[in-house]
Amino acid sequence: MVPALLILMGALVTLQADLLSPEKFLLLPPVNFTIKTTGLAQVLLHWDPNPDQDPVDLEYHVKINVPQEDEYDTKNTESKCVTPLHEGFAASVRTILKSSHSPLASSWVSAELKAPPGSSGTSVMNLTCTTNTVKSSHTHFRPYQVSLRCTWLVGKDAPEDTQYFLYYRFSVWTEECQEYSRDALNRNIACWFPRTFINSKGFEQLAVHVNGSSKHAAIKPFDQLFTLHAIDQVNPPMNVTVEIENNSLYIQWEKPLSAFPVHCFKYKLKIYNTKNGYSQMENLVTNKFISKIDDVSTYSIQVRAAVSSPCRMSGSWGEWSQPIYVGKKKQPLVEWHLIVLPAALCFILLIFSLICRVSHLWTRLFPPVPAPKSSIKDLPVVTEYEKPPWNETKIEIVHFVEEDGFEVMENSMF
Ligand SMILES: *[C@@H]1O[C@H](CO)[C@@H](O)[C@H](O)[C@H]1NC(C)=O
Ligand SMILES: *[C@@H]1O[C@H](CO)[C@@H](O)[C@H](O)[C@H]1NC(C)=O
Ligand SMILES: *[C@@H]1O[C@H](CO)[C@@H](O)[C@H](O)[C@H]1NC(C)=O
Repeated sequence: MVPALLILMGALVTLQADLLSPEKFLLLPPVNFTIKTTGLAQVLLHWDPNPDQDPVDLEYHVKINVPQEDEYDTKNTESKCVTPLHEGFAASVRTILKSSHSPLASSWVSAELKAPPGSSGTSVMNLTCTTNTVKSSHTHFRPYQVSLRCTWLVGKDAPEDTQYFLYYRFSVWTEECQEYSRDALNRNIACWFPRTFINSKGFEQLAVHVNGSSKHAAIKPFDQLFTLHAIDQVNPPMNVTVEIENNSLYIQWEKPLSAFPVHCFKYKLKIYNTKNGYSQMENLVTNKFISKIDDVSTYSIQVRAAVSSPCRMSGSWGEWSQPIYVGKKKQPLVEWHLIVLPAALCFILLIFSLICRVSHLWTRLFPPVPAPKSSIKDLPVVTEYEKPPWNETKIEIVHFVEEDGFEVMENSMF
């Protein structure tokens, strides 16, 4: 508010000064002011000093009008701007006196880049990107690399034949996406770069540009800038180990797979008691923790990490590590088996005997065969059931053994 007012006053005073004493000290505007696109979401403003300007200590006052108002002073005759360009770009520059609070200033010179063609409804919507650190295949050159994943929605006014293309720029490197995911109409809606030129420790912004083509309409491109700390998904800590000793948990872990060194991380530790459902949360900057436990509960232990502020602006927490279960877990499991398995067996036997009784299966399976008078040992008997339960004829070989007046019967079915 205050700077704006000052600028307004400055401008008024400048105008007065220009009007009142133009012959005393005349500042001439710069010449050859141009705006050139030098990369995705990046322009270079350039101007030359006015050749007729008196040789005094000069500076330039730059004012960006589109897409976002901004202003600053510079001694140089060029200036780089990183900003989305899909709404075009417009700026003005004027000559001022160096580091003086003098209201003297030249008139403005302006230039602009026209917005690319296409209605805004044809642009992609809800563009989101995330980065993740992966191990590099060239470990000797650069141990870590960054992968990039972006997703978006098709513009609501985009024709059905629209195809989108995604590019990213980080510093001086620009790459086009090679691995797209498509929707039912075969339109690209997500992109995956397994490896990029992004330096996860860099402070520059990531520029993402999505343009498109269609036979029926001009597809307006879309630019978005991302700050790395805001979109980086930190890996979970590695090699989490838990040991129990004298009713204490000794928990340790290593820093996540990341280009950042050990001291850059903070951790959140979750010790979940599966018996009473209580979660203990600890915020830590060390990579070990000792916790007292009781000896009747099972615990699940998870850790997650975030890069902390001395190394980078604090971002969001990464993924939890896989849970590690410790404590009295095996005993209840064994007891459970000891009780349930015999019970199930008894139950099945009971049901089986009930069915047998109800359907007189027993008598059918073992029909009372009159004891033959002959002493033939093996006699194949074909038995035709009146109402076979599975519509099949069963052949039974019945072995008769005469032994001390008892009839021992063996039965086999085919
Ligand atoms: C402005 O541009 C023109 C054409 O490119 C060039 O001839 C001229 O020298 C430039 N003026 C100054 C002051 O550099
Ligand atoms: C897309 O973004 C808009 C505005 O930011 C939001 O209202 C909408 O819910 C988002 N749509 C989806 C599907 O995420
Ligand atoms: C999309 O942008 C890239 C990078 O600026 C450019 O090379 C390409 O020609 C553009 N494609 C379309 C269809 O506009």
